[in-house]
Amino acid sequence: MPQPADGQILVRNIVMSVDPYMRGRMDDVKSYAPPFEVGAALQGGAVGEVVASTVDTLRPGDTVLHGLGWREYAVLDARHAVRVDPAVAPPGAYLGVLGMTGLTAYAGLLEVAEFKPGDTVFVSGAAGAVGSVVGQIAKLKGAKRVIGSAGSAAKVAHLLDELGFDAAFNYKDGPVREQLAEAAPDGIDVYFDNVGGDHLEAALATINVHGRIAVCGMISLYNNTEPPPAPRNLVQLIKKRITMRGMLVGDHAHLQEQFVTEVGGWLRAGKLRYQETVVHGLANAPEAFLGMLRGENTGKMLVTVD
Ligand SMILES: NC(=O)c1ccc[n+]([C@@H]2O[C@H](COP(=O)([O-])OP(=O)(O)OC[C@H]3O[C@@H](n4cnc5c(N)ncnc54)[C@H](OP(=O)(O)O)[C@@H]3O)[C@@H](O)[C@H]2O)c1
Repeated sequence: MPQPADGQILVRNIVMSVDPYMRGRMDDVKSYAPPFEVGAALQGGAVGEVVASTVDTLRPGDTVLHGLGWREYAVLDARHAVRVDPAVAPPGAYLGVLGMTGLTAYAGLLEVAEFKPGDTVFVSGAAGAVGSVVGQIAKLKGAKRVIGSAGSAAKVAHLLDELGFDAAFNYKDGPVREQLAEAAPDGIDVYFDNVGGDHLEAALATINVHGRIAVCGMISLYNNTEPPPAPRNLVQLIKKRITMRGMLVGDHAHLQEQFVTEVGGWLRAGKLRYQETVVHGLANAPEAFLGMLRGENTGKMLVTVD
């Protein structure tokens, strides 16, 4: 068992996150996050309990959010851990709806896509951690219509029956372009992209003049070895004067306080719902990660470590 040096804490991990961006860190290329190293433990969001500390600000028994998941115990600099309150929300929520994926949804919709009340919003990956929150925030903020796409009939039913989406479709049932046109007879004003490829092409075809696209993720491409065949209609950017903006959640840290206040309030009031898919045991973490890429999760995919 490693011991914490000066300024460090020892944390026993309770729950960890598996996220799509981790796939990118498995490619040995320059990106916003450095590649994982062969032979070293992977990294990622985790919540755990402090068991030893050399600092006054964090004491044994405190629950902390930090970046050294994929292990049972982590030693880290105390300044890289944030205390969270397990009495306010369960540990896993700080990795999802009240954590990185929740902030991504909040910032992506409100700041990047510049959502306005009355917009019709389309979100792909809609039953996942980010997408499910995007759709609900859009409804809570006065969207005219919220449309989601997901990869199974059960997920479509979840969007319609439990999360309050106005329309939803299974992208495996037929061409996305046709299904989206049917779900959005008056077009869309905002597309929140989690998927890329044919979803982005369909959104470009369906979006209205001066539409806005937040490019959050392109999960349909993460395992590609060839360039994607779609979108083939980028000319629509000119014809419809579309704004399309890539985003990284790390650029939106200034919204953190506002996000926790607003989303925390909706959660307390029962206005925003979230689901988690939980896999038990660190040994099953690789399978949980692969399962998430295959769509086996509804809401946030988490792994309990203890
Ligand atoms: N830019 C940022 O700062 C940022 C931050 C967080 C996340 N993201 C991105 O946001 C997206 C969602 O992340 P998340 O953490 O919320 O994951 P998630 O949606 O909870 O899980 C991934 C989901 O992607 C769907 N999927 C997998 N392959 C697909 C394909 N070929 N076509 C369509 N859907 C597919 C699966 O659902 P189905 O069953 O519906 O296929 C799966 O459940 C990802 O693209 C991720 O990279 C970006």
